Amino acid sequence: MAEDKRLICAGCELAEAGKGVRFSVERYGRNVPAFVIRYRGRVHAYLNECAHVPVELDCQHGEFFDHSKLYLICAVHGALYAPDSGRCLGGRCQGRGLKSLPVIESDGNVFLVLENRNG
Ligand code: FES
Repeated sequence: MAEDKRLICAGCELAEAGKGVRFSVERYGRNVPAFVIRYRGRVHAYLNECAHVPVELDCQHGEFFDHSKLYLICAVHGALYAPDSGRCLGGRCQGRGLKSLPVIESDGNVFLVLENRNG
């Protein structure tokens, strides 16, 4: 299967456990919000949607980490997610996790990997 990729941001825009970068992806014919963060040196991206109620995680744009910088947090009701897997670690999402998106870092930039289903 051929792969294509789309530039999200420069790698230097993502500080370790710092502010995330928001972008959008097409799902079911519409654009939906997503975000990318850096955790333990690696980049991870997810749809920007809490597993509990379909709201965006960051009420302060780009702030996805909790105060400890160990978890992603939903600003609405405080569900916690593992930054490297999106797995739910506690809160009202009752075990459901974030939907991850494939991203790579290459030549100083961060890319969303697009699946070419015709390729
Ligand atoms: S809306 Fe995110 S934890 Fe309830």
